[in-house]
This record gives sequence, structure tokens and C-alpha cells, in this order.
Amino acid sequence: MTTLLSAQSITKAFGGVQALNLCSLDVEKGSVTGLIGPNGSGKTTLFNVVTGYVKPDAGTVTFEGSDITGARPNKVFAMGIGRTFQLTRIFGRISVLENMLVATQREESWLRGLTRSMSSKSELDAAMEWLDFVGIARLAKLPAGSLSYGQRKLLELAYVLVADPDVILLDEPAGGVNLTLINEISQKIRALNKEGKTFLIVEHNMEFVMNICDSVTVMHQGANLVTGTPAEVRSNPLVLDAYLGGGEEQDSIEEVANG
Ligand SMILES: Nc1ncnc2c1ncn2[C@@H]1O[C@H](COP(=O)(O)OP(=O)(O)OP(=O)(O)O)[C@@H](O)[C@H]1O
Ligand SMILES: [Mg+2]
Repeated sequence: MTTLLSAQSITKAFGGVQALNLCSLDVEKGSVTGLIGPNGSGKTTLFNVVTGYVKPDAGTVTFEGSDITGARPNKVFAMGIGRTFQLTRIFGRISVLENMLVATQREESWLRGLTRSMSSKSELDAAMEWLDFVGIARLAKLPAGSLSYGQRKLLELAYVLVADPDVILLDEPAGGVNLTLINEISQKIRALNKEGKTFLIVEHNMEFVMNICDSVTVMHQGANLVTGTPAEVRSNPLVLDAYLGGGEEQDSIEEVANG
């Protein structure tokens, strides 16, 4: 197995809050890797560090063996690391398709993308193709602000895919999404993974994580606590303790993790 993306001993404090405290994570090429942990354990901060939105105080991020620590978000995206946000970041007043065309301008600022009067035919075709893939092509002309929460998540996924990243970081893709859409998102991830895309997924929905991931890392208080297969993680008492803060044994990870 080859490590595609790696975070080594990352620390990051916000004022007095130690959001990351020597956190390490390896994402194997071709894997679907899960990242779970209680609220506030540092999952989104780790995503922000890896994708250049937050500079770590210490530690190293490598991608395909190269040190990318501290690289700007645009640069990280252009290198082939795509991500979605816990709260979606689509532009509500422009159409679904226009949002996609902004995504094709990945090495320019989104503003320049927005003000460009014409997109090439191939960009349009690619945008429509990915909208079709996630099942929302029929909504292409609507303002993105009129989409349901689940449809926005699908748009964000399409938005990331149009740039053809090697690894895709999803921050709570199933959060607030109905079961039908969750199953659709699972299927899309599986299909893309079969074609060689690597995924790193933060999610509180344990059924989703356990079904889709090859490997799961559990975070606790800014550090990686346990890494293993879904079955290993589920039966590890340290994991339940992390969620319950040293609680009893009767709960399952599925019951305690829906934060
Ligand atoms: N920009 C910031 N400024 C100040 N504190 C922050 C900032 N970002 C994160 N934190 C703090 O860092 C800690 C880790 O937050 P983070 O968002 O990474 O957790 P998380 O694991 O993603 O949680 P959740 O499951 O609720 O999304 C929290 O205590 C949070 O309040
Ligand atoms: Mg988060």
C-alpha cells in the first residue's frame, strides 16, 4: 500500500484551545478512510490544516511524498486535494451550473471565474456531466440557494469532482441529509472509489462510516486515538470511552456517536 496523504504530529492552538495535539493520520492510495471522534475533537481543524485553510503550529503534511505544509488552499486544490465543507460553501444567488463553472477555475480566484463571460464548451460539458453523475442535472439552471440541504451537499460533491482531484475530503457528507440521499451519496463514493479516487471522510453517522470505510481513525482531544478496520474500531473500548468521557459499557458506538 502507498500512502497518498499524510499528516504527521500536527499541533494547532486557537488562543487557549489546543485543537490539534500531535495528531497523525495516513491516507492510503485507493482507500476510503474514515475520521471520527466526538464534537470538538479536531476533525475539521485537521481538514483545514491539510487543505491549507489553517496553518499548523507544528507538524508536517505530505502529499505523494512532497511536503505541502502551509501551502495555500488554491494551490492544495490544484495539486489534486479536493474538499467539501461541514457547512456548504456554494454561492446561493448564482445558478447551480454557474457554481460548477466557478469550480473549473481552480487555479484562478473564484471571483475571476464568476466574472468570466464565457466558459468553454468542454467546461460546460464537464460541469453538466458531474451534475448528472450526482443526480441534480435537472436543477442546473436554478439558483443554488433554492436547493435543499441534501441537494447542496450533492452540488458540493459535484463541484469538487469537476476538478478531478486524486483525494477527496468530505466533512460530514451525510449530516442533515435524508436517508435516501445518504444512500445515494454512499453509492457515488463507492463508484468513484472503484475508479481509483481516494476518500477521507469525517462523519458522525456511524452506519455510513462503518459501511463505506476500509480504515477508520478515531480522534480524541486533538490527537489520533485508534486506527483500524470498522470492526476493530467498533469493538475497541477506548473508542466508546472517548465518546462518553469514560462512560459505561452498555452503549454501542452507533448510539453514542450521533453528535
Ligand atoms: N477558528 C477557530 N477559532 C477558535 N477555535 C477554533 C477554531 N476552529 C476550531 N476551534 C476549536 O478547536 C476545537 C476543535 O474543533 P473542530 O471544529 O476541529 O472539531 P470537530 O471534531 O470538527 O467537531 P464537530 O464534530 O463538532 O464538527 C474546538 O474546541 C473548536 O471550538
Ligand atoms: Mg467538524
